[in-house]
Amino acid sequence: MIEISDLHKSFEDKDVLKGITSRFEGGKTNLIIGQSGSGKTVLLKCIVGLFTPTKGDVIYDGRSFVQMTKKERALLRREMGMIFQSAALFDSMSVLENVMFPLDMFSDMNYKDRVRRASFCLERVNLGDAGQKFPGEISGGMQKRVAIARAIALNPKYLFCDEPNSGLDPKTSIVIDNLIHDITSEYKTTTIINTHDMNSVMGIGEHILFICEGHAAWEGTKDEVMSSDNERLNSFIFASDLFRKVRDVQQGE
Ligand SMILES: Nc1ncnc2c1ncn2[C@@H]1O[C@H](COP(=O)(O)OP(=O)(O)OP(=O)(O)O)[C@@H](O)[C@H]1O
Ligand SMILES: [Mg+2]
Repeated sequence: MIEISDLHKSFEDKDVLKGITSRFEGGKTNLIIGQSGSGKTVLLKCIVGLFTPTKGDVIYDGRSFVQMTKKERALLRREMGMIFQSAALFDSMSVLENVMFPLDMFSDMNYKDRVRRASFCLERVNLGDAGQKFPGEISGGMQKRVAIARAIALNPKYLFCDEPNSGLDPKTSIVIDNLIHDITSEYKTTTIINTHDMNSVMGIGEHILFICEGHAAWEGTKDEVMSSDNERLNSFIFASDLFRKVRDVQQGE
């Protein structure tokens, strides 16, 4: 479980996060939603330690980030898997080499075991045959799956995904969402996903944190999101006509 407590982040004169408190349980897909510019990426970067919060703390299974030594932080990093907005693969390396990269860097496994582990992860994302291809030779959805395989190579306790569906068609997005969801429940990772994709919210939103103007404006599950009477949440969700219609059908109007 990851807990964030009274998290603030300011850049010079701009307050982006204004005191966010929440908890993200293990084995669940936790979604952070909010308008473009609301601070989702800044929040995720504070959680993973790429940004230092101006105030507040992030607690990893009882371990306070603020109180950790440099060495403890470095060890914690190895428990994290990350998938960024772009798949961020190394173009000059094969798919297999991409997945092996974190193992090369951070594990003491021998070459044979690293190949075996990377191949297992590629099979887990249904890319068992693609290991010898290069990123430029496969589709965007496949690249995202390679990024997922790479993120899980070190068996992370914590998985972070910033807009994993950006640039993908709706059907491929569902494949990616389901994959992240299945891996989360299979390995009991604490998974946090930034998204503004309402399909993801309704598909895998086991815990949803809605941020608005730097505050945690609503929290709940995918079953609660459509019937909430939170005005700011509703104006975010029902900006899409489709979801307004779904709600109206659900309410029998
Ligand atoms: N390094 C930085 N320096 C100054 N301001 C920043 C920095 N990074 C982000 N911001 C500001 O923080 C605010 C939130 O940005 P952020 O990228 O977190 O939004 P977001 O919710 O992830 O949006 P999107 O949905 O478009 O990805 C924006 O106003 C942005 O300009
Ligand atoms: Mg973002």
